[in-house]
Amino acid sequence: MIEVIKGDITRLEVDAIVNAANSSLLGGGGVDGAIHRAAGPQLLEECRTLGGCPAGEARLTRGYRLPAKYVIHTVGPVWRGGTHNEPEILASCYRNSLALAVKHGVKTIAFPAISCGVYGYPVADACALSVRVTAEFLSAHNGIERVLFVAFGDDVFQSWHNALVHLTNLTVRRSPDTGPGDH
Ligand code: AR6
Repeated sequence: MIEVIKGDITRLEVDAIVNAANSSLLGGGGVDGAIHRAAGPQLLEECRTLGGCPAGEARLTRGYRLPAKYVIHTVGPVWRGGTHNEPEILASCYRNSLALAVKHGVKTIAFPAISCGVYGYPVADACALSVRVTAEFLSAHNGIERVLFVAFGDDVFQSWHNALVHLTNLTVRRSPDTGPGDH
């Protein structure tokens, strides 16, 4: 249900890709720039109608020229040492993106490593948090069949891989106590 892959998120044929945007929702560098370039100018036109998005929240648009039907734009926290609610805000990004996906009938969704580029969030911490929050969400909500974590670089790939191995070990160790169906 949760997989880690390496590659360019703009190429994926999934129902929705998530964009690590800024609060203007009017484009930028990194994955945001790549998504706007691949989707074409109509994406920016639709984003202009949304009036921005606070950190931790998410907004949905169509995907236009992307293979993905939808783009879910979320705004991660800027890392400021970890004492400014960065983990809570990052957790909200994942939860709110997944909730919006469920609301729109999305079955397959791909995430980039939100806040792990320009916004400076420590990669290993962000990857561990995203896997934990996503696994919790999936065990509590129906609808989403597949979540892809899309790493652009080796460090993110390795951190997500480690976080997934950790989660699998926890699940395997917990299952004899909790019984079938409890993840
Ligand atoms: N596919 C998948 N991942 C990518 C791609 C791609 N095509 N391109 C970059 N990444 P960042 P942030 C990875 O900086 O830290 C923008 O200007 C990248 O290697 O894109 O949340 C926005 O407008 C990194 O691991 O997002 C905001 O102003 C991850 O995506 C600001 O940057 C996130 O890096 C948001 O910063």
